[in-house]
Amino acid sequence: MEPVNPFSFDKEASGDGFCDREKETEELLGDIRSSHNVIIFSQRRYGKTSLIKKVLNLAKQEGFLTVYVDLYHILSEQDFAVAYARALTRAMEEGPVEKLFQTLRTIFSSLRPKITLDAEGKPEFTFGLEVGRDPVMDIEDVLESVKKYSEQKNKKAVVVFDEFQQIGQLDRASRIEGVLRSHIQTHRNISYIFMGSKKHLIFDLFTDTRRPFYESAKMFPLGKIPSKELESFVYERFRSTGKHLLRQVAARLVETCESHPYYVQYVSHSLWEISSADSPITDEDLNKAIGLTLSRTSPRYESVWELLPIRHRQSLIALANLSPGDKLFSGAVVQKYGLASAPTFRKALKRLVEKGLADRDQHKYSIIDVFFEKWIRMNFAVE
Ligand SMILES: Nc1ncnc2c1ncn2[C@@H]1O[C@H](COP(=O)(O)OP(=O)(O)OP(=O)(O)O)[C@@H](O)[C@H]1O
Ligand SMILES: [Mg+2]
Repeated sequence: MEPVNPFSFDKEASGDGFCDREKETEELLGDIRSSHNVIIFSQRRYGKTSLIKKVLNLAKQEGFLTVYVDLYHILSEQDFAVAYARALTRAMEEGPVEKLFQTLRTIFSSLRPKITLDAEGKPEFTFGLEVGRDPVMDIEDVLESVKKYSEQKNKKAVVVFDEFQQIGQLDRASRIEGVLRSHIQTHRNISYIFMGSKKHLIFDLFTDTRRPFYESAKMFPLGKIPSKELESFVYERFRSTGKHLLRQVAARLVETCESHPYYVQYVSHSLWEISSADSPITDEDLNKAIGLTLSRTSPRYESVWELLPIRHRQSLIALANLSPGDKLFSGAVVQKYGLASAPTFRKALKRLVEKGLADRDQHKYSIIDVFFEKWIRMNFAVE
């Protein structure tokens, strides 16, 4: 059988496709065992979801009730209640559907579960919300049901809220935050894990002294995977599918991607696709793979670019082209990139950070997406 491309960038990493994160896995398992609350944050696509799903699998094997709630699509309090109720349903192990249905009916006090059949005839649970009832009551219902169920089963629990920053976007965000906080702090045997990629939104939720979540959980910034681990991972994945990637080419691949796991997978995927098993893979092949990756990611960058006001575009061009010695807000930089003035540049950068396109570390700004930066340099080089 022809080997299939062993690299993937559009779904979470798992099994053999999961690289390293040993220390992080152990630390998080320790937090879960002690029922700590944790906030995991990182830039986009650093591997938060992949990591937590691996950790949840291990916690489940240790006997924990594991509830994973993805909040990415929620637009209202009702959506939140339903997403959470569904996540709890998935986590329950009750055997036959009828039994699960009975348990759901006893566990919830206000939510009414219904069974429907999906297109393939498989049973699905829906949760009818009562018109006119405050949806916050339903959120409280699920919060307490998780506790009730884990106690009934005599299990400790872990609940993950992925893309938690979405809560901050809801109309009555601070009220929901308050409700979550008041329930969570009485749940001694449940570890709550909040995850998000919009750093400033997550920070606002947890560090603003006026907000209810202030200092209620441990901060866990997820860093990069060490380059040596990524190099060996890529090298091995090529080897196991009968292809020989030179070690130094693997090293340059990881360096070009600045150890960003998503891009390491993306470029490796392109490189695997264009390479043959007949001869070792060289630097030249890698250059082609980087070009191919850029051409595939360009449409996404173009659509982001088109929506940006001129000042933001100019600021990104400046960031992408700055030389190491340049002083960010100096007159020379402002003039070279046509940035109007230092305060205007500063304001544009602040907005870019809020939009999640740039990052600020102390006084240093950078473009978050390494390939977006390459794309800008390719299209808007400034001499
Ligand atoms: N430990 C890992 N080993 C190998 N590849 C990884 C690892 N972690 C992440 N990746 C790669 O990065 C991609 C993004 O990972 P994941 O979706 O877990 O990140 P995320 O931080 O949750 O992203 P987002 O910010 O979009 O929610 C994966 O599809 C995979 O290609
Ligand atoms: Mg994720």
